[in-house]
Amino acid sequence: MTPKTFKIKNFGCQMNVYDGERMAELLGAQGMAPVAESEDSDLIVLNTCHIREKAAEKAYSDVGRLRRKDGSKPLIALAGCVAQAEGAEARRRSPMIDIVVGPQAYHRLPEMVAEASCGSTSVDTDMPAISKFDSLPARRHAAPSAFLTIQEGCDKFCTYCVVPYTRGAEISRPWGDILSEANALVDGGAREIVLLGQNVNAWQNDGRGLAELIRALAKIDGLARIRYTTSHPADMTDALVAAHGEIEKLMPYLHLPVQSGSSRVLKAMNRSHTVETYLATIERMRAARPDIAISGDFIVGFPGETEEDFEATLRIVDAVRYASAYSFKYSARPGTPAAVMEDQISRDIMDDRLQRLQANINEHQLAFNRSKVGVNTQVLIERKGKHEGQMIGRSPWLQSVHVETDSKPGDIVDVTLVAAGPNSMTGAVRQKVAA
Ligand code: SAH
Ligand code: SF4
Ligand code: F3S
Repeated sequence: MTPKTFKIKNFGCQMNVYDGERMAELLGAQGMAPVAESEDSDLIVLNTCHIREKAAEKAYSDVGRLRRKDGSKPLIALAGCVAQAEGAEARRRSPMIDIVVGPQAYHRLPEMVAEASCGSTSVDTDMPAISKFDSLPARRHAAPSAFLTIQEGCDKFCTYCVVPYTRGAEISRPWGDILSEANALVDGGAREIVLLGQNVNAWQNDGRGLAELIRALAKIDGLARIRYTTSHPADMTDALVAAHGEIEKLMPYLHLPVQSGSSRVLKAMNRSHTVETYLATIERMRAARPDIAISGDFIVGFPGETEEDFEATLRIVDAVRYASAYSFKYSARPGTPAAVMEDQISRDIMDDRLQRLQANINEHQLAFNRSKVGVNTQVLIERKGKHEGQMIGRSPWLQSVHVETDSKPGDIVDVTLVAAGPNSMTGAVRQKVAA
């Protein structure tokens, strides 16, 4: 039976969220309707993440849960990075899966669904030379803040990471395609565009880099804010740093993962930056844009990480004064060089280090938020809050801001930030700015 309804469940990073939106548009163009609950859906797409063991295992436990009480099951498509990493093996592990489709092959989803509804299973984890983007329907509706993938894949090969294997080599989407997608998103209601890539600042096309692309995007009428993520420290060019001081629409926020505060560990991770070069980049950023909010990623318990190495990580958090940061326990991933390194760290030590690191990060996050109390700024309203009349939006520094207002999602309101919590701010409206 041909499915009439679908549900896409996203795991992992923002690039999966973007891919999920594109798959939804693709299935919608085939006349299928999205539903909110898995129970009601003829087709379920699990858009998976392979970055840490827990994330990957979640994919399989979720598949198991899709069997219905009457013994029937929906059509199940395994998409995303687990699909890419496991290919046909995924069906051997879980025969309930009908379709295995990698992140570079999902433009073929409609034909794979058609095949699967006739009873045949299909696997496509090719990374074709012709980009999937050329076969996807045009963008129509967009949230106030919309994702736009401009770069995919990674050539950096950090020794712990699966991304170069699941997402393939670095590719940059062409300039013209990005501008037309951005225009379509703005026509569809986006006020902010977040440019995405596993190494977004490595984007280049026809001799032009990310700074020039942002400059061109900033000329789009109706587009108020531009962000980009995730950046690699090695690709923070002078032009991009300077752009932060020059382009008003480019928001004062930079996600720049460091992973560790020990240059010895960074070398073993194959990160290509040292503590000194990273801190120098942060200094260049702050010279260009003094109020920039810096965020980052950390891994604790990388093989061979000593207590001294870890304390150096605590010190870099103090030196950078992160406005926010994500931290993870190292997870050994099959096929990566670090998985077979000596001196794997015990779970207990990792737990302890993660707790200490997160406590330190939280202090800096709260201090950053408190430093913004009393500041007049603008909030892009994104959604309704918990109670009547409350809306939630983002400050330029990506803080979540609660505001009492009759404004709608997509409005930009002038507020004074009046209170700071660990994870959000309260704003008081000064006046509504014309939308
Ligand atoms: N391209 C980005 C990050 C991609 S993955 C970058 O280079 O910064 C997102 C984050 O997951 C990484 O920054 C890292 O902190 C974490 N991560 C990646 N592999 C991991 C692993 N094997 N174990 C634990 N955390 C990992
Ligand atoms: Fe993974 Fe490193 Fe590439 Fe980031 S730069 S995606 S951490 S290999
Ligand atoms: Fe996960 Fe793939 Fe993103 S492994 S973090 S979904 S690139």
